[in-house]
Amino acid sequence: MAFLRSFNVLVISEEADKLYRIFDSIGITFRKSNKAKSSSKDFSNYDIAFLDIDSEGWEKRLNELKQYMPVIAFGKQDIKKAVEAMKLGAIDFLQKPLKNDAVFEIFEKFKDKPKVEVPGLIGISRIMEDVYCGIRKAALTDSNVLITGESGTGKELVARAIHNLSERKDNPFIVINCSAIPDTLLESELFGFEKGAFTGANYTKKGLIEWAHHGTLFFDEIGDVSPLFQTKILRVIQEGEFIRIGGAQPIKVDVRFIAATNKDLLKACKEGSFREDLFYRLNVIHIELPPLRNRKEDIPSLVDFFIKKHSSKRKDIYIKGITEEALNLLMNYSFPGNVRELENIIERAIAFTNSAEITVKDLPSYLIKTSTTKKTMQGSLREAVDNFEKELIWSALQKSRGNISKAAEFLGIHRQQLQRKLKQFKIAT
Ligand SMILES: Nc1ncnc2c1ncn2[C@@H]1O[C@H](COP(=O)(O)OP(=O)(O)OP(=O)(O)O)[C@@H](O)[C@H]1O
Ligand SMILES: [Mg+2]
Repeated sequence: MAFLRSFNVLVISEEADKLYRIFDSIGITFRKSNKAKSSSKDFSNYDIAFLDIDSEGWEKRLNELKQYMPVIAFGKQDIKKAVEAMKLGAIDFLQKPLKNDAVFEIFEKFKDKPKVEVPGLIGISRIMEDVYCGIRKAALTDSNVLITGESGTGKELVARAIHNLSERKDNPFIVINCSAIPDTLLESELFGFEKGAFTGANYTKKGLIEWAHHGTLFFDEIGDVSPLFQTKILRVIQEGEFIRIGGAQPIKVDVRFIAATNKDLLKACKEGSFREDLFYRLNVIHIELPPLRNRKEDIPSLVDFFIKKHSSKRKDIYIKGITEEALNLLMNYSFPGNVRELENIIERAIAFTNSAEITVKDLPSYLIKTSTTKKTMQGSLREAVDNFEKELIWSALQKSRGNISKAAEFLGIHRQQLQRKLKQFKIAT
């Protein structure tokens, strides 16, 4: 019952050798950790951690490790301590003496999962795992965050995820769509006004910043704001206070700021259209969302997710999936509109389809035109064969979720042979 994939396992325990023997006997291919050397900068190389909670300082270790990988706590029978470990973020608890079956089950659960997950965000690619780590790290602090990425890559979703995972989660998450507020309304929208501040101010109005007290303020499309907007918010971010229009006293606020943009802000700073001081204030933690075309391995799970999300809109048929041919077409498309475009395509296909599975004819015709399936019909025989092989490999890798040994099994070839092909076709896994 050996696993096809290997795991990089970090074991933090005086009794690590006992665990290694169990890994060996249940057929886990693993890389031993070096407990003495393991520092947070190496953590991103691990898939899973086993933490002995009978050891000194385990709580601190757990807090650190859980940002990078799932942590399995293990220890002597002590229900209180086990519950505490789970509360602190361990995803499972095993009792000593460890049993082979229990350890095996843990690996069974994790073999197809990304090592770090964020609720609401779908994607199993390595690049998205780095994004999840960034989100989890950001959630533990109050530092400002700048999220960059092309349109439709999920910037707002990431901002909400940071808020929901942070201690501020029960307080407001306020979105300011920066490009929608004209300079004339800026101060009244952001800071509010006192009764009698100007003609027509018959009541005191709280601004958006005040509403965000104890919560998170999300400046969306920060790259599009005017110089006045930049100056006004810089002060709030620096001082943590503002004055309502017509007010005398500054009001202190406790707010975490997150900003997002699809613009290159550094370039805007160089060109003089964005304040450098504001840029550095916001860019304390930077999360870059990769375009969907650079993480195609996420497409199948996103498609599944969007089918489940939108299938209830059809009352007449139950839509349970997508044909392999239709999925292949999506895999070959470059998605300039990123995840939002993929979601729209699936939503539209659900509205149009006449079958329980989304088929090629339910997809927009521009996909068919741009797909490489058509291109295989042109050019030399060699090119056509190469394209055909590439498609088969892609689809095997999708089925195996990037696991090379499994994909080779599907294709009926040796692992080494597949690796040579991947190199030849420059397919990254
Ligand atoms: N990883 C993901 N998992 C699930 N849904 C996603 C993911 N990324 C994006 N989406 C969905 O795609 C749509 C677009 O996401 P979002 O609005 O966060 O993008 P954005 O980067 O803010 O885009 P824009 O720059 O155009 O404002 C949303 O419906 C969102 O729920
Ligand atoms: Mg957005």
